[in-house]
Amino acid sequence: MVKVNENYLKLEKNYLFINIAKKVNAYKAAHPEADIIRMGIGDVTLPICKAAVDAMKKGADEMGVKETFKGYEDSGAGYDFLREAVSGYYKSFGVDVPADDIRINDGAKADCGNIVDIFGDDNTILITDPAYPVYVDSNRMSGRKVIFADSDESNGFAAMPDENVKADIIYLCSPNNPTGSAYTKAQLKEWVDYANKNGSVIIYDAAYEAFITEDDIPRSIYAIEGAKTCAIEMCSLSKTAGFTGMRCGYTVVPEELKAKASDGSEVSLKQLWNRREGSKFNGVSYPVQCAAAAVFTPEGQQQIKVNIEYYQNNAKTIAAALDELGIKYTGGKNSPYIWLKCPNGMGSWEFFDLLLEKANVVGTPGAGFGKNGEGWFRLTSFGDKDRTVEAMERLKKILA
Ligand code: MLT
Repeated sequence: MVKVNENYLKLEKNYLFINIAKKVNAYKAAHPEADIIRMGIGDVTLPICKAAVDAMKKGADEMGVKETFKGYEDSGAGYDFLREAVSGYYKSFGVDVPADDIRINDGAKADCGNIVDIFGDDNTILITDPAYPVYVDSNRMSGRKVIFADSDESNGFAAMPDENVKADIIYLCSPNNPTGSAYTKAQLKEWVDYANKNGSVIIYDAAYEAFITEDDIPRSIYAIEGAKTCAIEMCSLSKTAGFTGMRCGYTVVPEELKAKASDGSEVSLKQLWNRREGSKFNGVSYPVQCAAAAVFTPEGQQQIKVNIEYYQNNAKTIAAALDELGIKYTGGKNSPYIWLKCPNGMGSWEFFDLLLEKANVVGTPGAGFGKNGEGWFRLTSFGDKDRTVEAMERLKKILA
């Protein structure tokens, strides 16, 4: 008889954002007249920039002509034109990542979950708490031991390494989802030093790097000396260029990154990842890769900058309302997320219900991201400008 992976039975019944959508849909069914403003899942609302749309159309046209039609892309790692464009993008902020170390994917979420395939199940996984639920879920699905590094008010939501704790794989996300905090160069250097000293690997999620405004916050872990021997980086065009519905991102596994097999031999993690992907992934569609490459042109960069600024202004609107209400929060400065302390000592699901029922505004309860998220709440700045203003007016009204 078939045996199921029983690790799945130990997970929460639904993924966090599915749970929230269910709750909101139930509320909507009971109150069809409610004008709900969604500031929960970090989904963008501005359309794809013109440079990307034009490039995608051109790519689609090429697929309809015999001479330019494309079937499988040879390596499945992404077309050279896009990998070179990503490499050039890294160079634009002073980081050297060769195109050959980059693989194009259909958004960072899948790679965040799939990367665990190349590591043994007996590794100890360290995840900052709170964190993007994919890190915990994908390791628990294979029964790995997961431990947590507290990221809370006492350390400014920036967990730091502890020499007394031994971790083999470490997940870091900066700017952070959900807290919006971001590691400085000096803080990241501590993590890189810890990983190199202990033979650990850092899985670095840089999905929100384009929202960084402060000089001292690195856009990539490879801005830190020594990172190439200990870190894998993942990034996405979802938030940067509105690709949540397009699906395109990239993962960097540096040539220099090695691990030891049980017989003591040295193993290239890049080679293992390429091997894994060769068997399980056939690449991203050509028109989408054309659109992604256009994002990295000067024209594309200029256009997405306008959209990012729009969201940054929404973050300012949210921050101003919280300031007015005297509510403590982090984020918003280098991140599209604002992480606020639930007022009057409320629990995060309690605050979620209050906001949904009394203001018809949806956010994300901090408890969904881990135990340290309890009592905290995440709002996204990815909404429409006027709706964000309206949501904050409603918030002020119910909390005044
Ligand atoms: C979030 O809201 O945390 C993100 O949108 C989730 C994701 O990008 O998968």
